[in-house]
Amino acid sequence: MPEWLFAYGSLIWRPDFRYLERRRAALPDHVRQFWQGSHDHRGTPEAPGRVVTLVPARGRRCLGMAYRLDPVTRTAVLDALDHREKNGYERRAVTLFDDSGAALEALVYVAAPGNFAWLGEAPPEAIAAQIASSRGPSGRNAEYLHELVGALARLGAEDDDHLLALDGAVRGLLETPG
Ligand code: SIN
Repeated sequence: MPEWLFAYGSLIWRPDFRYLERRRAALPDHVRQFWQGSHDHRGTPEAPGRVVTLVPARGRRCLGMAYRLDPVTRTAVLDALDHREKNGYERRAVTLFDDSGAALEALVYVAAPGNFAWLGEAPPEAIAAQIASSRGPSGRNAEYLHELVGALARLGAEDDDHLLALDGAVRGLLETPG
C-alpha cells in the first residue's frame, strides 16, 4: 500500500485531511490539464465547470504536493477523498520523486479519458470562457484556477505556463463588462 498521496489540483491548497508530513514532489511524464468536467464542485450537471486531471506527456513532469498519510486515519481519509473526487476520478498508484530525488510510492486521483464527466482538449479561449462563466456548490470555477496558480507559484512550479496564460485570460474575461 503506498504511504503517500499525490496532489496536483485542489488537494494542494485545500487538503482537508490529516497527514503526517508533506513534501514538494513531481510525477514524471505527465502534465495537468483542465480537461475534466466538474458537475459537483465548480459547475453543475447542466453547466459543468473545468478542473484538472493528469495527462501523459513524455519527458515533462507535473509538480505537486505529496502527503504522507497517517496509517491510523488512512482508510477514513481515502473514503472521504473518494467522495470528494467522485466526479469521474479513480485512484491510481504512481511513483513520485521529491526534491532530493527520493522515490515516493503514492496514490493519486486521476480522471481518465472517457469517464462520464470527461471534456477533453479544447481551444484555450473556449476553456477560459467556460471557467469564467462556471460556478458550482464549492464556488466559482475561476477561484479554483486562481487558487491553483497561487499554490503552484508558492511551490515554485516552473512547468505551468499555460496555466498562467489561462489565468490571465479568465481575469480578462471577468473584468470585461457585459
Ligand atoms: C488533486 O488535487 O490532486 C485532484 C484534482 C482536484 O481535486 O482538483
